[in-house]
Amino acid sequence: MNQPILSLLMSCLMLFLFSFSNPSRSQTKNLDEKVTDLLSRMTLEEKVGQMTQISLEIVAKEGLKPEDRVELDMQKLRQAILKYHVGSILNVGTSAHPVDHWQKIITTIQDVATGETRLKIPIIYGIDAIHGASYTKDATLFPQSIGMAATWNPELMKKNGEITAYEVRASGIPWNFNPVLDIGRQPLWSRLWETFGEDPYLAATLGTAYVKGQEGEDNNVNAKDKVATCLKHYLGYSFPLTGKDRTPSWIPDRMLREYFVPTFQAAIQAGAHTVMVNSSEVNGIPVHSSYYYLTELLRNEIGFQGFTVSDWYDIKNLHEREKVAASQKEAVKMAVMAGIDMSMVPLDYSFYDLLLELVKAGEVPVSRIDEAVGRILKVKFKLGLFENPYPDKSLQKRFACKEFEAVNLQAAQESITLLKNDKQILPLAKDKKVLVTGPTANMLSYLNGGWTITWQGDREDLYPKNKLTILQAIEKKIGKENVIFEPGVTVDNEVNISAAVEAAQKVDAAIVCIGEKTYCETPGNIVDLTLPEAQLKLVSEIKQTGKPVILVLVQGRPRIIREIVEKADGILMAYLPGIEGGRAIADVVFGDFNPGGKLPITYPRYPNDLTLYDHKYSENTNPDSRYNPQFPFGFGLSYTRFEYSRLTVAKKEFKKGETLNVSVQVKNIGDRAGKEVVQLYLSDLYASVTPSVKKLKRFEKVALEPGETKTLNFILHETDLSFIGRDNKPVVEPGEFEVMIGGLKEKFLLR
Ligand code: BGC
Repeated sequence: MNQPILSLLMSCLMLFLFSFSNPSRSQTKNLDEKVTDLLSRMTLEEKVGQMTQISLEIVAKEGLKPEDRVELDMQKLRQAILKYHVGSILNVGTSAHPVDHWQKIITTIQDVATGETRLKIPIIYGIDAIHGASYTKDATLFPQSIGMAATWNPELMKKNGEITAYEVRASGIPWNFNPVLDIGRQPLWSRLWETFGEDPYLAATLGTAYVKGQEGEDNNVNAKDKVATCLKHYLGYSFPLTGKDRTPSWIPDRMLREYFVPTFQAAIQAGAHTVMVNSSEVNGIPVHSSYYYLTELLRNEIGFQGFTVSDWYDIKNLHEREKVAASQKEAVKMAVMAGIDMSMVPLDYSFYDLLLELVKAGEVPVSRIDEAVGRILKVKFKLGLFENPYPDKSLQKRFACKEFEAVNLQAAQESITLLKNDKQILPLAKDKKVLVTGPTANMLSYLNGGWTITWQGDREDLYPKNKLTILQAIEKKIGKENVIFEPGVTVDNEVNISAAVEAAQKVDAAIVCIGEKTYCETPGNIVDLTLPEAQLKLVSEIKQTGKPVILVLVQGRPRIIREIVEKADGILMAYLPGIEGGRAIADVVFGDFNPGGKLPITYPRYPNDLTLYDHKYSENTNPDSRYNPQFPFGFGLSYTRFEYSRLTVAKKEFKKGETLNVSVQVKNIGDRAGKEVVQLYLSDLYASVTPSVKKLKRFEKVALEPGETKTLNFILHETDLSFIGRDNKPVVEPGEFEVMIGGLKEKFLLR
């Protein structure tokens, strides 16, 4: 056989073997071919339409109230899809719809998109299923992310992702605008509770677990019970200088990469399909207009391959609010050229019209349009929408089933964080008489927070009637006859504190449920982190009766409670524990569940001392301003006690490229079974950039029976010792480090 024929045969064989051994490569190739083929058949109008996302209300009948089911206006729907070729629709229109109503809405939309158009391109419908399928009636509503973070339980987080994906997909929706991977380092911010707290490692671990739960281990979002995730809000949204939502962040590049990039990077590596962009500005640059953030960093450095969607109205905001674009047209050009692939317009077709004009005038190249549309179509193909864009009705079977409810209850229980327990006042015996008081005691909405049923989550009348508030759960547990309820105050105002005080005289203990009402985004802005005066007064006056006071904090941010901490005998942080929150709190208060939650944020003592756990040495050197939080990050008590011993670092010296084994023993020395979160922190003792006093590097949650001991092993890698250097690049510097677990410390040297 002559040489050229032989090598041709060899390469054919190699190609054949390669496509066999590497199906994903060949699938990708197939997918790329499909996308290229479809793109080649699309008109410019059809392409620009794919980049346009509108809100459900503009294709719905008018005059609907929030409590109404949304009904589609077929003429408007046809206008959106047939005239403007829109590629995506979002939102709920009114309020949470029953699962079969959602199926009807999605079916009608897809009927038009795939039945009445030339190219039959399905719509990708997107929704904010922030803590469960929160816009589907009677869904499994988990604790909000800040509470999930307090569980320090990635497996539970993954299950949350799986169940949420199942219920969202059962509603016929394939795309979820979650998880929020902004780092919660500004406690005033009204969206703190949508985050996994202040630490990038904890948030990245939980965020990636959620992505895997939603998209599947292999990110095969074609599976009938999986959805595409949307990481948000890239990048730097969560750190507004003033604490007010959608206001400027000042984050130098080094800090951005140290604290704000890692969660997004990890979730992108975990395969997340889409990214939503920060509504606001960083260092004076609205992120929607930044080629650096959206293309150089996100694509070229981090390697994101999915598509980006703007946040609500935010391309328009470049002109109207941020004032970096002198016209709407300039705003569209700026955003698209910066790297926005889809515009959440969302209430008109201006984006479509303007972008079309820009391309026709040669101001936006067709190649950029093809790039954006290609990315969008690819995700639609991956979701299997071209094969079957319709809801799978069989999924309705397990929607909000008992099994999901049990996982949810466990999540709520594991989130609850015991912050104080003087003289083991908790758990209370079930034969005690109690007063239940405070504004958050009898409201399901306050347990759930924003993004529940409606955007602000505040329509108490629309919450399921079969779920229990804290009061109802306590009544159920110890009998109505043993419970007196006197709210005393609303969140902001006194109602009848003396009635609550009088009732306190008649009981064995007062359970005072305080905190925040529901809010979401900008309406949740505050000017003072301190808990409102009326609530502080309620606690102080009840304390004067001499009865034990148990505080239950139902809140999305750590409202300052300094003046009542000493007056409380027991304090439970419940965060926003979701629809099973009432039951979970009652279980903890009366000892049916041993709390093990740990704070994923620093709980400040003073409104103007917002120093975080991984602060710098300089923040704790001046004797007049020592680091002094009310409760530190990672803190949380249990009804049992744990003892740490034998912290061992395998090598005292460790070379670059090697791994380091660290082990520790933990023993349950109390008389109850319990779970402990073992936390490993590292300190870099000297570095070319001021080191943090410590940083979380690993954690593991262990269950221990009374008297039981377990040894935990952790493996550290060189990258765990790295930080972002003066040149804004990751660096590992030789020198001395200290590892800390449960109060024990060991040093080692990196050569
Ligand atoms: C929020 C996003 C949300 C979007 C769509 C915006 O106002 O910032 O988090 O996904 O609305 O509802």
